[in-house]
Amino acid sequence: MERTHIADLGKSEGKHVMLRGWIHRTRSQKSMSFVVLRDSSGIAQCVVKEGAKGFGDAQKALVESSVELEGAVRKDERAPGGFEVQVSDFRVIGFAEDFPIKEQQSPELLLDNRHLWIRSQRLTKIFKVRSSVLGAIHQFFRDSGFYEIQSPSITKMACEEGSTLFEVKYFGEKAYLTQSWQLHAEAMASALEKIYCIAPSFRAEKSRTRHHLAEYWHAEAEAAWMTHDESLKLQEEMVSHVVQTVLKKHRKEIEDLGGNAGQLEKVKPPFGRMTYKEALARLEGKAAPVKWGDDLTDLQTRELAKDFDRPFFIVNWPKEAKPFYMLENPRDPKTVMNADLIAPGEFGELIGGSARETDLKKILENLGRMGIDPKNYEWYLDVRRFGSVPHAGFGMGVERLTMWICNADHVRDCIAFPRTINRVYP
Ligand code: 4AD
Ligand code: MG
Repeated sequence: MERTHIADLGKSEGKHVMLRGWIHRTRSQKSMSFVVLRDSSGIAQCVVKEGAKGFGDAQKALVESSVELEGAVRKDERAPGGFEVQVSDFRVIGFAEDFPIKEQQSPELLLDNRHLWIRSQRLTKIFKVRSSVLGAIHQFFRDSGFYEIQSPSITKMACEEGSTLFEVKYFGEKAYLTQSWQLHAEAMASALEKIYCIAPSFRAEKSRTRHHLAEYWHAEAEAAWMTHDESLKLQEEMVSHVVQTVLKKHRKEIEDLGGNAGQLEKVKPPFGRMTYKEALARLEGKAAPVKWGDDLTDLQTRELAKDFDRPFFIVNWPKEAKPFYMLENPRDPKTVMNADLIAPGEFGELIGGSARETDLKKILENLGRMGIDPKNYEWYLDVRRFGSVPHAGFGMGVERLTMWICNADHVRDCIAFPRTINRVYP
């Protein structure tokens, strides 16, 4: 008999169906068991009465046992999903031991049992949204004429801050896990011009914040000839496309998770823009004082985000606050042609991007000022030596975006097996 998914029960009212899944909740009386069955599409109440085939097993089977059952579908307003299955045959496929996760567990126990906790209704909903986020990013770039390209995960050089590099032993040589595809992407942009990729990036983040993972999925794009302004436009179009696509498909999940569908509907280009200088002025007297050149703290970013109900850009940061590869601002050489895209509310930075410095001399100067040995960057510098062109790119944290859309309270809930400063298990 063909298997029916729980979400499709409505189409089978009055019919005999076969379901497969796991026991989400179970309660037995002497002559009846009420089993709430879960599959990837939803949950449904199944009633097994004395006399049904497998009734004894239904009485015995604990939560998370796997089950295949057959029965008749009946409408029932009070049941989750609105339908109930009157079971005629209940087959346990794998009896579960006593499930270690009960109601009201500590976050630590849940993280230790992440391999089991991922079955929860909440995480399942987030992962569905995440899956569509990834799909929508691919669709956006492919429809915009970008080629998907991969770059190495093991590299010899830092792209971002050296302090967050993970060192790996590489056949007796020192190497690192990549922080970003960017430097290799800049080289590839001279071949394919418009490229993108979604891949893991690694950051040895020593801080315990709600926004930082040690391994996260990074959606990055790079394009030859693209200006800073064109890059901002591409970013706001991409984010809007992803949000609207995901909202259309997962409104129910997003609302169940406590996300603000009404606010997400308004995510359409153009996004607000303020300069770093304006940001400092707005923060004056509001949060801890920021002085020119400082990065903004989480608290300061959140303070700025209070005035927005859509993402907004902070552009033209001071040179000293940003990496060596950013293009000097011709109108104000103390600053660079970059932007951070900030989510409204408490979610922090979604995207970091910039136009890239094309002048070999300036890159060497920046590396020198930052105390970085140019030796390992020789190949990267060749990109400037052989037909340098204006170009720009950006990177977005997939979990950060998912966190904002789902209104999740921690970025680790937006990836199945989070890697953080104190966790690499399971
Ligand atoms: O701002 P970042 O460090 O920029 C870059 O890596 C550039 N090379 C990207 C580029 O231009 N191609 O990182 C980009 C984004 C951040 O805005 C944030 O969303 C995410 O990556 N991100 C993290 N997400 C989770 N955990 C972390 N530790 C993250 N660090 C950055
Ligand atoms: Mg950044």
